[in-house]
Amino acid sequence: MAKSDEPLLVVENDADLCNQLRRCLRGYRVLSANGPAEATETMRAVEPPVVLFDLGLPAGRGGAEQGGAALGEMLRRWPRAKVVVIAAGDEREYALKAVDDGAYDFCEKPLEIDAVRQVVARARKLYQIEEENRRLVRASLTPLPGIIATSPAMLEVCRLIERLARVSATVLLLGESGTGKEVLARALHALGPRADRRFVAINCASIPESLLESELFGYERGAFTGAIRRNTGRIEYADGGTLFLDEVADLPLPLQGKLLRFLQERVVERLGGRGEIPVDVRVVAATHDDLEAMIAAGTFREDLYYRLCEISVRIPPLRERSGDAALLAHTLLRQYARSDGRVVTGFTVDALAAIDAYAWPGNVRELENVVRRAVILAEDREVSASHLGLDAADDGAGRPLRLRDARNEAERATVARALGLANGNIVRAAELLGVSRPTVYALLNKFGMRAGCE
Ligand SMILES: Nc1ncnc2c1ncn2[C@@H]1O[C@H](COP(=O)(O)OP(=O)(O)OP(=O)(O)O)[C@@H](O)[C@H]1O
Ligand SMILES: [Mg+2]
Repeated sequence: MAKSDEPLLVVENDADLCNQLRRCLRGYRVLSANGPAEATETMRAVEPPVVLFDLGLPAGRGGAEQGGAALGEMLRRWPRAKVVVIAAGDEREYALKAVDDGAYDFCEKPLEIDAVRQVVARARKLYQIEEENRRLVRASLTPLPGIIATSPAMLEVCRLIERLARVSATVLLLGESGTGKEVLARALHALGPRADRRFVAINCASIPESLLESELFGYERGAFTGAIRRNTGRIEYADGGTLFLDEVADLPLPLQGKLLRFLQERVVERLGGRGEIPVDVRVVAATHDDLEAMIAAGTFREDLYYRLCEISVRIPPLRERSGDAALLAHTLLRQYARSDGRVVTGFTVDALAAIDAYAWPGNVRELENVVRRAVILAEDREVSASHLGLDAADDGAGRPLRLRDARNEAERATVARALGLANGNIVRAAELLGVSRPTVYALLNKFGMRAGCE
């Protein structure tokens, strides 16, 4: 038997039996509960991998039925735990039903110590394997810090960001509002050699034009009325680190010229200053605007554009990322339920279908808002479609015509969707897809989805 300090919960109100189990399970940190209510508290606090649950609780007539109901509730709330049912001979029917409902196995009374030990050891082993599987899937579903994705489109972006993090070229992030431009800019910084220096973000749209120049370049004392002391500009402040120019399309034309000069010369001159100060920063810019159209309209400088987009990265909108919306929704729901102290554990099938079908014009930011609201409004453990308030829309535009490409794309998208709907659980994804687990692994391999950016 594996020696470990792992917690193990025994739900048993017979003190003798409880002591017997304690002796038999030496090596585990045995916690005991004398009934379902106490068990729930321990599960909440510790969530032990293995639980031994006496079905005959509470003792007396109808105990097994009630025990079965309490056990069902536990299995629903803590589906990862391996529950071994303890049942008397005449409770066999309930024990089998419990196994049907998701319990790991059952042991009949009178208990055979060696058999109990073996069952527990096997349950623990399975838990470990599943936990490792979950960890691997989580790693491939969190391809970059702060990024949750399973879709091939987004994993490709992540791979690119990872590679770009290592070089100092200026990167332009292009994507609709709420697609994650800022999270990716931060990832570029965090994964690169400048990670221990500053990441300085400046939003060119949110600072009034009159202040933007001094904000970017800084000023000397007396440079203008009110400049009572010297102020370092954001560019200089980012020296050694990364400068993130958010909403760069909103930079007024005169400042575009000044920024261009900085990008060429890599020096800044504070307002009212007399000298040039060399600054070493990695520049990342972002916009949701169409810069090429702005160049054509004469509102954005072409030379600046080419400086900014030494490398440009297009971030796909959420509607083009198969499976990501459902996966993000699961993750956000867990986060919000925890932070808002709500017992909401998932979505109904209808709700997931609505999330999957909706076009998400506001992208991840909109999804965040919708899930947060739904978590607050939910009356049950599960968020239903009505709490999301989404209109389904799927026009099927832009699909490929070549049959092989269409098949491949459909297959890729379906695997990603299943993975998203299954919240990354390979076993569940295999069920949804109607294929075996090895087939799912093979498909993930084929589409480079597991490898992700690990
Ligand atoms: N792939 C992702 N995984 C997890 N969270 C994400 C992801 N993409 C975006 N987010 C979250 O969504 C929100 C919007 O992201 P972000 O601010 O980076 O988008 P943006 O493209 O800069 O949007 P905007 O144009 O509105 O400024 C943030 O709270 C961010 O943490
Ligand atoms: Mg932003």
